[in-house]
Amino acid sequence: MPYRVKIALDHSRPSAARADALCVFATESPVRVYSVDGLSPDLVLAIKRAARDGCAKDGKVTSIDTLAKIRATRIVIAGLGKKSKINADTLRNAAGRAAQKAQSLEAHKIAITVPRGISFSDAETAAQLVEGARLALYKFDRSAKAETPSVSSIGILHHTPAVAAAVKSAATIADSVVFARDLANMPPNECTPETLARTARTLGRNVSCRIMAKSELARRGFGGIIAVGSASYNEPRLIVTEYKGAPRSKRPVLLVGKAVTFDTGGISLKPGERMDEMKFDKCGGCAVLGIMRAVSRLGIRDNVVGIVPAVENMPGGGAYRPGDIVKLYSKKTAEILNTDAEGRLILADALSYGETTYRPRAIIDMATLTGACIVALGASTAGLVSTSDRLAESLESASAKTAERVWRLPIDDDYMAMIDSKIADMKNMGIGRTAGTITAAAFLRNAVSGTPWAHIDIAGPAWTQTGTVERSYNPGGATGFGVRLVTNFLAG
Ligand code: BES
Ligand code: MN
Ligand code: ZN
Repeated sequence: MPYRVKIALDHSRPSAARADALCVFATESPVRVYSVDGLSPDLVLAIKRAARDGCAKDGKVTSIDTLAKIRATRIVIAGLGKKSKINADTLRNAAGRAAQKAQSLEAHKIAITVPRGISFSDAETAAQLVEGARLALYKFDRSAKAETPSVSSIGILHHTPAVAAAVKSAATIADSVVFARDLANMPPNECTPETLARTARTLGRNVSCRIMAKSELARRGFGGIIAVGSASYNEPRLIVTEYKGAPRSKRPVLLVGKAVTFDTGGISLKPGERMDEMKFDKCGGCAVLGIMRAVSRLGIRDNVVGIVPAVENMPGGGAYRPGDIVKLYSKKTAEILNTDAEGRLILADALSYGETTYRPRAIIDMATLTGACIVALGASTAGLVSTSDRLAESLESASAKTAERVWRLPIDDDYMAMIDSKIADMKNMGIGRTAGTITAAAFLRNAVSGTPWAHIDIAGPAWTQTGTVERSYNPGGATGFGVRLVTNFLAG
């Protein structure tokens, strides 16, 4: 199913690039164009004129005909805006626009020049261009008239080994984002917990995978997963994946991702409007699978465990109810007050199991956990809640590099008190709408003993929705949020 794009270095000069479209970049005030050496003076003049006519602005793009003066039939010029304001995201976004322009011109092969002298090394620049271009070409379309996009290869015009290595790892990461998007975009009738489990077995020869089905989960006390999954014909699974890139003695990083393949809300049924979007309630789990794929292919020298609790939250005769008391894997009990607060129940089981089984040195979970997070931070920034400043700061630094935005929220004991229950160890929601993202995190915190832990609420940025800030490389549907962020954290 996935549409492949070949990504490699092309050692030729721009004039000789074996491509249909040649992509170059421009900055404004004063207008400058980059890496056009070897092109004839009249072509350079035409590029400069187009840049002066407006396409040097950040986010703008245009194309000119090369009138058979070079191999490529078109030159696509993408704007980077003011040179002093360029950051890694400017490069990703511009490369994405350029690739989309080339796609609209029905180019098969595109060649991208690496702009020099813009405060990034060639290797750093090339990596951002690869990610931006590849991710902007992504499309999920299951209609009968769906066409395979024309672009089949991206060549980066460069020749050094450092750039070759950067391009290779950027392509691996981009492919893993595409993998996560493809899974997350799958409709809920096709992508069930079993589908995710089957897919997790294909992550790589160096990734082991163990699946627990319903009977084993019930026997071993995964009360949260069993309760949430109880009304669906699509039975729950716990997916446990391991990658070993360091000696056994090195304690692993544990990743946990929420995968509710469809969240109806259960007995506390959601309103009908935009309920279809709740197929994206599996995005945290899809991101974890994407990260496991990326780290194994990058061959990082660390141990990583990825756990994905996968369930479908349905109403029905066997459904769990408001009023139920559920015993979690930790043996703590939860009073259910709203069956739509299901994510924290399955995550709590997975977190406790992962912590006690693997003794990790750090735990990171990712989940489309609360609508409140979108209210607080908007649709393009994830909420970050952590018991460790060090872990939170490392994630913030990976966030700055990848522009997968996170913003930290507090979690002190005052918030823990908000989920106290009179008849169980805790309740599965807080006090009305107050601090909804933090009270959900408080529930998760109770599942972790002492390991440094970070929770990333990706309800906003996991897919493009109302209020999403536009980026060429997030063209619609699932974004794969978290794959670039956490892979960067693990590799860096
Ligand atoms: N999956 C939803 C959260 C969500 C909603 C993510 C909209 C993205 C967009 C989650 O399971 C949920 O329903 N949470 C409830 C919690 C409440 C019942 C305490 C919510 O956010 O309303
Ligand atoms: Mn829910
Ligand atoms: Zn949910």
